[in-house]
Amino acid sequence: MIGPDAKILDLTSILISFQVHPEAMTEDLSQCACPHGDKGKETIDGMNEEHVPQITWGLVNLPEIDPKRILDIGCGGGIFTKLILEKYPKAKAWGIDISEVSIDYSKEFNSKFIEDGRLALSIGNVADMPYEDDFFDLIVSNASHFFWPDLPENLKEVSRVLRKGGILCLTVGIHTTDPAVISGYKEQYPSMTIVSDHTMLEYMEDAGMSSEYKVKPDSTFCCYIGIRR
Ligand SMILES: C[S@@+](CC[C@H](N)C(=O)[O-])C[C@H]1O[C@@H](n2cnc3c(N)ncnc32)[C@H](O)[C@@H]1O
Repeated sequence: MIGPDAKILDLTSILISFQVHPEAMTEDLSQCACPHGDKGKETIDGMNEEHVPQITWGLVNLPEIDPKRILDIGCGGGIFTKLILEKYPKAKAWGIDISEVSIDYSKEFNSKFIEDGRLALSIGNVADMPYEDDFFDLIVSNASHFFWPDLPENLKEVSRVLRKGGILCLTVGIHTTDPAVISGYKEQYPSMTIVSDHTMLEYMEDAGMSSEYKVKPDSTFCCYIGIRR
């Protein structure tokens, strides 16, 4: 673990983490997990607007870096990709998502960056990404790791494509430490797997990253930062 806050990790702050079992999903959750059809486009319209505050806050927690190659995993409609390319004007980005609807949407939403040669998008799964080892300086992802098929293993794949010293920034908009809220999520979405922040950081450490997390006071925003060892 990194930073003076490491002891906090022993407290059972909770990360809401989902693992998707399609038979148990509501339609809305299935749209978040993999946007599809016309409803998928509507869902992405909403996410591209509603996710801005949590992403913007998450980016404040990044150390001073000058990344050249950035990856957005589970890029959805492309809002994080847009914000990160604006933050680092000299960088080039790649975006990957399992949803064809997401990638098509993102291609339109971020067409200017594609025309400028600063963005490449592909349909693909975090479980097995088409990038070389040690390729990226910075990897970002908002609200997607909830839906990854095997979070600890997938974080190892993320670590594989991150260069030594490179940064992973996972942002979350539904973090809570309130057991009642956690039960509510479980009731609403029985397919969710809930892991503590401590477990999340252990997964990141096991994947080869020094890790820490920040929670925005009086909010549900959380950000996990990993530095590839
Ligand atoms: C809740 S949406 C978030 C989209 C976007 N990051 C945002 O902030 O608006 C989750 C996205 O993760 C994608 N996703 C889910 N599982 C994935 C996987 N195994 N590999 C890559 N992308 C995945 C979904 O298709 C969806 O577009």
